[in-house]
Amino acid sequence: VKKEELHASLSDPVLDTMNFLNEVTSRYPDAISFAPGRPYHGLSNVNEMSDRIGRYLAHLDERGHSPQQVRDALYQYGPTAGQIRELIAGSLLVDEDIDVSPEAVVVTVGSQEAMLLVLRALMADRDDVLIVSTPCYLGIVGAARLLDVAVTAVPEGDDGPCVAELETAILAERARGRRPRAIYLVPDHANPSGATMPLDARRALLDMAERTDVLIVEDSPYRLLGPEPPPPTLKALDRACRVIHLGSYSKTLLPGIRVGFAVADQEVVDGTGRTGLLAHELAKIKSMVTVNTSSLSQAVVAGSLLASAGRVSQIGAELAGHYAGALRATLVELDRRLPAERRAALGVAWNSPRGGFFLALTVAFRADEAALTRSAKRFGVIWTPMAYFHPEGGGDRGIRLSISHLTPADITEGVARLGRFIEAETVRR
Ligand SMILES: Cc1ncc(COP(=O)(O)O)c(C=O)c1O
Repeated sequence: VKKEELHASLSDPVLDTMNFLNEVTSRYPDAISFAPGRPYHGLSNVNEMSDRIGRYLAHLDERGHSPQQVRDALYQYGPTAGQIRELIAGSLLVDEDIDVSPEAVVVTVGSQEAMLLVLRALMADRDDVLIVSTPCYLGIVGAARLLDVAVTAVPEGDDGPCVAELETAILAERARGRRPRAIYLVPDHANPSGATMPLDARRALLDMAERTDVLIVEDSPYRLLGPEPPPPTLKALDRACRVIHLGSYSKTLLPGIRVGFAVADQEVVDGTGRTGLLAHELAKIKSMVTVNTSSLSQAVVAGSLLASAGRVSQIGAELAGHYAGALRATLVELDRRLPAERRAALGVAWNSPRGGFFLALTVAFRADEAALTRSAKRFGVIWTPMAYFHPEGGGDRGIRLSISHLTPADITEGVARLGRFIEAETVRR
């Protein structure tokens, strides 16, 4: 088979982005790695899994399901849109003040599948464009490449997505005859920058989406991973039904179960005037992709929601505390290794997210793959070049640090190594 005869996305660097990083990581196994955004599961006990499933089955029993129905709930193909939609809708209400009917929810194989479904449904024409705020999560760019969807990147500011710039990009796309359909962004503790949008920017974004007639795809897997909740979700503030909200249990529960969801309560009208929800259209696409999300995995999520009265914030509290501690420790160590005067001299800066897995560092040299190799080989520390997250170029002097799976000792030693690497590279220029 000739590669050039396969789909163009398979030759797109975005689909290979993490290869180099994986290669460096396996070549220098002793290096401390701030690269992977892997959730931490050291606080979990594997027996919890069967307890959670048992809890869900007991719940079905209490609700009058027959033994046959209870068995089917685990053993059979399930409804395409998911079998725990009521529990998820209930949880969104208590945790996030998002008030939607269970019919507006589609349970997906991680939020990654939700991205694919949403793009497939919205992007109808070659001229349709997805606007993304960059640096941007690679999963959405990859999904867009798979579906031949055009992406336009708009640089974010220190506080995340920049509403005025997004609007300018939308108008510019329209002026060149294309149709901006949706803006994708991560408003809370973003991957990769760690930035969180302030409340006034959220409101301004919703107004702008209304004015310019575009939808917003809000992806929020890190939202509950901080010492206090960020401002309300875009979906909770959404009065004009502009927001498709994507959720994930990968970071709050565990990624191994692969469960996420989309909330799509937009009304869809067909040629005969019949209406239904966008969620229903997403489910139709899902029926041809994964058929349904694993019943076993949904049972684990359901059991967890039942045990905490729907409060994911409560289930993940200990884990959130772990991440917040690791983030604080990283910031303290950075400040200790590169105090204000020294970092001014070296041209180094970083942001200070309150939650999530990531923070963004800017340096005075090109933080490219060659620099990463030197960092791993000579200094024993690995990080991710921010340039990976800029689909249209940029971010050459940026570094993403992920704190999600490091121990306190690794953080102390890793930041010391990083400090030495930055000193050496800056002198080298
Ligand atoms: C911003 C963002 N969205 C979505 C995902 C994927 O989540 P899931 O495991 O639910 O597919 C990730 C995972 O790294 C992410 O960082």
